[in-house]
Amino acid sequence: MTAPGPTEWGTGTNGVGPWADEHGTASPDDPRYDPELLRDGDARNVVDAYRYWTREAIIADIDTRRHRLHIAIENFGSDANIGGVVRTANAFAVDTVHIVGRRRWNRRGAMVTDRYQRLQHHDTTAELLEFAGATGLSVVAVDNVPGAVRLEETQLPRDCLMVFGQEGPGISAEAAAGAAMIVSIAQFGSTRSINASVAAGIAMHTWLTQWGDLSHAW
Ligand SMILES: C[S@@+](CC[C@H](N)C(=O)[O-])C[C@H]1O[C@@H](n2cnc3c(N)ncnc32)[C@H](O)[C@@H]1O
Repeated sequence: MTAPGPTEWGTGTNGVGPWADEHGTASPDDPRYDPELLRDGDARNVVDAYRYWTREAIIADIDTRRHRLHIAIENFGSDANIGGVVRTANAFAVDTVHIVGRRRWNRRGAMVTDRYQRLQHHDTTAELLEFAGATGLSVVAVDNVPGAVRLEETQLPRDCLMVFGQEGPGISAEAAAGAAMIVSIAQFGSTRSINASVAAGIAMHTWLTQWGDLSHAW
């Protein structure tokens, strides 16, 4: 990759104009580039390195750097947090986000990142656990429930599937029973729990601090 860092860390905030205006040269002949974006400009929420790239080329590039980290969120009731989980999973090049239960969820919070993120649906938690077993992933349930160990003091498995619950019930009894371990995030205030999407971000980042290779980060 030759381009500099992500948009958020650079100066441009609203994307880029047509290639000819930005660079003063003819459009490059590279199959990763999208002719329409080269002609019209690219205002998508993608890092600068991916400006003008087709969606397929972006996905293929992220695919070369995806982590052995899978995320699952149980969607039996409220889906309010799933979009945020998907967005963070995309930022961290998580392998796949698994949605368990209801297939439908509100994509708004994902801010279009779901287009670049592998998603997989499972009807039941049993199906999810079966998938983990078949693909050699250790299941880590994330919730502050009895039996949990502190995330901050735990070595997470490299080949990892983290399962998150939802507002109200938290993780299902089935997920807790099927997990190799349950981890909780230390809290210090009055609230009984934190938002599931925030919890997912903390847990994913903890895995990255243990297993991520920063030489591959933006
Ligand atoms: C809002 S919580 C609800 C359940 C929670 N056990 C309770 O007592 O209310 C929803 C989800 O967020 C995650 N979560 C929230 N706070 C957490 C914490 N301190 N440690 C680990 N996970 C947490 C878990 O995945 C949980 O299932």
